[in-house]
Amino acid sequence: MRQEIITTSKEETIRFGQKLAARLSSGAVIALSGDLGAGKTTLTQGLLSGLGVAGPYTSPTFVIMKQYDISPEAHKGIRRAYHADAYRIGTQEMLSIGWEEWMEDPAGIVIAEWPERIADIIPESAISLSLQWLDETRRRIVIENGGGEM
Ligand SMILES: Nc1ncnc2c1ncn2[C@@H]1O[C@H](COP(=O)(O)OP(=O)(O)O)[C@@H](O)[C@H]1O
Ligand SMILES: [Mg+2]
Repeated sequence: MRQEIITTSKEETIRFGQKLAARLSSGAVIALSGDLGAGKTTLTQGLLSGLGVAGPYTSPTFVIMKQYDISPEAHKGIRRAYHADAYRIGTQEMLSIGWEEWMEDPAGIVIAEWPERIADIIPESAISLSLQWLDETRRRIVIENGGGEM
């Protein structure tokens, strides 16, 4: 399944992330590709807030991975969100900081920015989103659902 939308503001991208969050179930892996400034972290803010995580949400570029706990009242099945950013690293380093544990967390979801840098450990079932900068305020978002359920 392939869907494409164009958002015309940061807020609209956040709302798109919130709507997507409502369709996710635990175990989902979301791969976010796109250049710097395309809106990957902004979309993740929408995903996290849609899952019931209270902010602030900071970019994990420098810390590589940020884990958020989700209360059982906020969401039926998802209790943890792992937001990883592979911009500065590759597969070996991502594995060494715990990637496999996040993937095996039955109540977790994993959101990965720069999935192309760790392509060999992104599962085929991942939901792939690619974001493209069109102009100052517009972004094209293409979503492709892998073999997995959403
Ligand atoms: N339609 C839009 N969607 C998302 N971000 C937008 C949009 N229009 C402008 N922006 C701005 O673009 C920047 C996107 O940054 P960020 O989400 O950190 O990108 P990335 O994580 O892909 O590097 C933010 O400063 C945001 O305010
Ligand atoms: Mg980012």
